[in-house]
Amino acid sequence: MAEFENIEPGKERRQSGNRELEIEDVCTFYGEAQALKNVFLSVNTNEVVSILGSNGAGKTTLLRTITGLLTPGHGKIIFRGESIEGMAPNEIIRKGIVSVPEGRELFGPMSVLDNLLLGAYSLNRRERRNIMPSRLNMVFDIFPILKERRKQRTETLSGGQQQMVAVGRALMAKPKLLALDEPSLGLSPLLITEMMNLLKRICREWEVSILLVEQNARAALKIANYVYVLERGEIFLEGSSNEIMADSKIQSAYLGG
Ligand SMILES: Nc1ncnc2c1ncn2[C@@H]1O[C@H](COP(=O)(O)OP(=O)(O)OP(=O)(O)O)[C@@H](O)[C@H]1O
Ligand SMILES: [Mg+2]
Repeated sequence: MAEFENIEPGKERRQSGNRELEIEDVCTFYGEAQALKNVFLSVNTNEVVSILGSNGAGKTTLLRTITGLLTPGHGKIIFRGESIEGMAPNEIIRKGIVSVPEGRELFGPMSVLDNLLLGAYSLNRRERRNIMPSRLNMVFDIFPILKERRKQRTETLSGGQQQMVAVGRALMAKPKLLALDEPSLGLSPLLITEMMNLLKRICREWEVSILLVEQNARAALKIANYVYVLERGEIFLEGSSNEIMADSKIQSAYLGG
């Protein structure tokens, strides 16, 4: 298996940088059912923060609450000093929170290039004209295979390549915070490692903060500066990757130890 380049697993400390995102006491409901219970969480600038949790824990609900697809029934979501709860999803994208949704949501019959260009749709015309060519080059630099396959129908790509298109499309929207919902799903161990390395590279080179929702704890713990574990809608544990990896409950529930 490929090594995680330049990363000492679990040795990275949380940076004491600026708060990028702050979630305070958030509760989210589906009708009467409460899916998030008093969630507190933060992401600092240029950090990878991971949310772990088993099926139905509320991970996707949390991302949908942050990106405006769901409105919290209670609590605050502050992005770069501004309250964003209740804002429309496209407004939140323009503020700089861009997500890679569960299941990717690509347009299969369209070409790779057209899917990528759709990501820049949230930018205004002038921004699009000014930054699109260089953004596209940056995406092709991170994912060279997408340049090769740019004219191919997206649905004919492998699962891993489609995941790259989904991440690339999000990067085209000029995110300050990239929120990913289980990007490792359906990928081989080798591709998972590659994807995690690329996310770390995006965080470092593009100065993008990353909120990474994963069931694959082992992969997420390798690149995360800080980790939250969600269970039944509640944060039940948080800490550095090191601390989380050392926890016996985590070892038995998530790391097969
Ligand atoms: N649209 C919905 N309507 C009602 N309940 C929902 C809806 N979506 C999710 N839920 C419920 O909310 C809880 C959290 O679901 P969520 O999809 O956020 O979990 P998850 O952690 O993303 O799980 P998975 O790992 O399976 O993707 C679950 O109990 C789920 O059944
Ligand atoms: Mg989910």
